[in-house]
Amino acid sequence: MTKIIRSPFFYVGDKYKLMTQLKKLFPDSIDTFIEPFVGGGSVFLNTNAKKYIVNDIETNIIDLHKLFYEYKDKKEIFIEELIEIIKKYELSCSFIGITVPEELKKKHVKTYYAKFNKPAYLDMRDEYNSSKDIKLLYLLLIYGFNHMIRFNNSGKFNLPVGNVDFNNNVYTSINNYIDFVSQENIKYHNMDYIEFINNLKIGEDDFIYFDPPYLLSNSEYNKMWNEEKEQELYNMIDVLSSKGIKFGLSNLLIQKDEENHILSNWMDKYNVYDIKSNYISYYDNSIKKSNKEVYITNVKETTT
Ligand SMILES: C[S@@+](CC[C@H](N)C(=O)[O-])C[C@H]1O[C@@H](n2cnc3c(N)ncnc32)[C@H](O)[C@@H]1O
Repeated sequence: MTKIIRSPFFYVGDKYKLMTQLKKLFPDSIDTFIEPFVGGGSVFLNTNAKKYIVNDIETNIIDLHKLFYEYKDKKEIFIEELIEIIKKYELSCSFIGITVPEELKKKHVKTYYAKFNKPAYLDMRDEYNSSKDIKLLYLLLIYGFNHMIRFNNSGKFNLPVGNVDFNNNVYTSINNYIDFVSQENIKYHNMDYIEFINNLKIGEDDFIYFDPPYLLSNSEYNKMWNEEKEQELYNMIDVLSSKGIKFGLSNLLIQKDEENHILSNWMDKYNVYDIKSNYISYYDNSIKKSNKEVYITNVKETTT
């Protein structure tokens, strides 16, 4: 079984943990893999295809993907440049053994990274907000709260420091991402998914994977999503499917006591699979029953 690799974005709601289940339901052979809502990229990074065309409406997300891609023939230099910035700001960096003093660890057992890195993080955030240097944005994502990207109304990055640092996992994920994109044919786009899809020539051997914002959850990137957009997406998928184009879509059908009725009214004409989320709540029966994640596709299941 091939190893599932993690994207260096550690994106909220990424599909990393679900890839083993999803991969089995994708077509056996894919010419072009198309991802209109790519986010951190955990899905394309774990999918075999001849070509990849990915898109996200968030310019910063696509700029970060392009940053990694730019270093496809010089990943060591990329890591060195990141470490140089980390050292300049005097942030902790477990990856190279710059650790938090023991005394601070004892005093703030669960929050010592945040305590130690806060002043340096705020300096780096100020610098990013004036320079807009994309490498600083990546480090803000690594050292910031929940690995998120958030800006205030005046366009300033405004998340507080997080309780993590640049560790071996971050290093491995950057390595894996750059290795992957240096071997594959990949194109990045930054627009609304409708325009993106309408501008593509999609053939029968291609496959579109949709992972839209979820109507039932309130992540940062769900702000601009609503019932009208949800319906518009399903209408578009119906048209694509009627032309013989293969698709797969992930979504949350039920959360707590709420059901996504637009989804439940639409999905039954296709193949619907329950997806087990590996969240902690999975082991808690009461919560388990009330969260239901599904995968919907017009691809027939094969025996492989
Ligand atoms: C559920 S996340 C995708 C997560 C991704 N599968 C991963 O593993 O990281 C949904 C993504 O859709 C993007 N998005 C929201 N509205 C969009 C639109 N109208 N067109 C294209 N992308 C959009 C968001 O910026 C977000 O990155």
